[in-house]
This record gives sequence, structure tokens and C-alpha cells, in this order.
Amino acid sequence: MSPTNTFKFRPATLAAGDDRWFVEAWDSTLPYLASIGSTSQWQYIPSNLPGAVSKVKKMVEDSDLSSQKYPISSPEVLSEHGVPPLDWDKAYVAEIDIKREDIPIALADRYSNEQGEIVTIPVGAMVLQGRSPEYVRSVIPEQDEKDPFIFLAFLMTDHRAGKLAKGSGSALLNIAKEEVKRLGLKRLCGDCWRGNGRRLVGYYDGQGLKAIGDFDVPKNEQDSWEGAVTEWRA
Ligand SMILES: CC(C)(COP(=O)(O)OP(=O)(O)OC[C@H]1O[C@@H](n2cnc3c(N)ncnc32)[C@H](O)[C@@H]1OP(=O)(O)O)[C@@H](O)C(=O)NCCC(=O)NCCS
Repeated sequence: MSPTNTFKFRPATLAAGDDRWFVEAWDSTLPYLASIGSTSQWQYIPSNLPGAVSKVKKMVEDSDLSSQKYPISSPEVLSEHGVPPLDWDKAYVAEIDIKREDIPIALADRYSNEQGEIVTIPVGAMVLQGRSPEYVRSVIPEQDEKDPFIFLAFLMTDHRAGKLAKGSGSALLNIAKEEVKRLGLKRLCGDCWRGNGRRLVGYYDGQGLKAIGDFDVPKNEQDSWEGAVTEWRA
């Protein structure tokens, strides 16, 4: 059995170039998705899609702005109705410290200028938001005064890092749950693709995020992207 990886966490920032790494890591998930029969989850190479690249940049930028506006996660951030502000955003990076000689081949070029015996590399990323995205609105509202939540807008690991990234997604979900509690809330929602026999829904279920409703986003006249909304309660 391989030893469990130990991760460190920090906010993602434009200053650290995390938006660029984020897109590279997103690209790296596509061969994995193809290998498990989930090509339709994320069909196009994100770095080739201007929309995806600017979406990632905006997520990191919004997180930068939000951490200036709401530097501490506490119930004081919530509105008088007890809901998080719609412009509350938090992007996280999970990192791991490794010996320079253990840098995976797929990342060797990226870290070729690193000095020192120990190198810190990002292996996972997550984006949390104070609102749900529009495409899940048939299942949950943008925000809910009666049952407020934080929304998991993005989660992925860098597949170039191989075994070093394993478990970083789950560790980031634990950070998300802590964040929900720090804000004085009790609910974390998210969404995922439900194709390929609901395999990814099963992953989230194992992490405590239970499916609460399905939705379909039309891609064209014949086809739609099949999603499920998930929920964890403190
Ligand atoms: C989902 C993810 C963040 C989980 O990270 P993690 O907690 O560190 O766990 P692992 O990467 O070790 O994956 C654990 C298991 O989850 C399942 N899994 C992961 N991604 C999956 C996906 N997209 N579809 C179906 N199953 C998936 C697999 O069974 C995997 O086991 P395997 O490595 O033996 O194939 C990461 O696997 C990932 O980036 N997947 C691809 C991108 C993705 O689907 N992100 C979620 C979008 S909602």
C-alpha cells in the first residue's frame, strides 16, 4: 500500500500564476476521463477554449478580490438573513512537498528551474462560491435564506502528478466542510456529471455529498449534459 500523501493548502492567486497552472491541470484530467469512459464529462481541451481559460482566470481573480473584502471566514460575513454574500468566492490550491528527484516526469520541465532539495508543487484545486451556478437552478436556487449553503464550483487534481495528487481532492473537500462550519453554516452543495453510470456521483457520495436532484443542460437539439446536484450537511 502506498503511504498517504500529506497536503498543505493555500488560497489560489493570480500573483502566483495559479490560473495558468489551473488550466494545465484541468487539461491533464482529460486523458484520465477518456480512460474511464467519461469523455463526455469534459469534452474539449480547456486550454484550447478561450471561454474556459477566461472562466478559470475570473474564478481566481474573484477569489483574490473576495479575500480582500472578506479576509476572515466567520459568521460576520453573512447577511442579516444569515446567507453568505453572492460575491463570496474562495479558490484553494492543495500542495505537496517532495524531493526534487521525485518530481514526476510529466512535470519535470515545469519545475526544472526549482532550487533546493525540497520542492512544493500544486496537485489539486477547488473553488467555493456563495451562490449556485445558473445551470443547477432547476434543483436549487442561487442562494437560500431558509437553508443557506456554500457551493463547490470546481474540484480537480493534477493528473500529471500521478500518485502524488491522490487524495488531494478528498482533502480539499474536508477544507470545504471546515469553511462551511467556520462561516456558521451547515450545508455544502455542488454538482457533477452523472453520465457513465453515475460513477462520479458515487465518488461524491463516498465523500458525504449525497445526490439531491438531477438536471440536464442542453448541448444541442439531440444531446444534453447530464448533471446531479449533491449536498453535504454538517
Ligand atoms: C474527482 C477528483 C477531484 C477526486 O480526487 P481525490 O479525492 O484525490 O481522489 P482520486 O483522484 O484518488 O480518485 C478516487 C476515485 O474517484 C473516482 N473518480 C475520480 N474522478 C472521476 C470521474 N470524473 N468520474 C468517475 N469517477 C471518478 C475514481 O474511482 C477514482 O479512483 P481511481 O483513481 O482508482 O480511478 C479527481 O479524481 C479528479 O480530478 N478527477 C477528474 C476531474 C473531475 O471529475 N473532477 C470533479 C468534477 S465535479
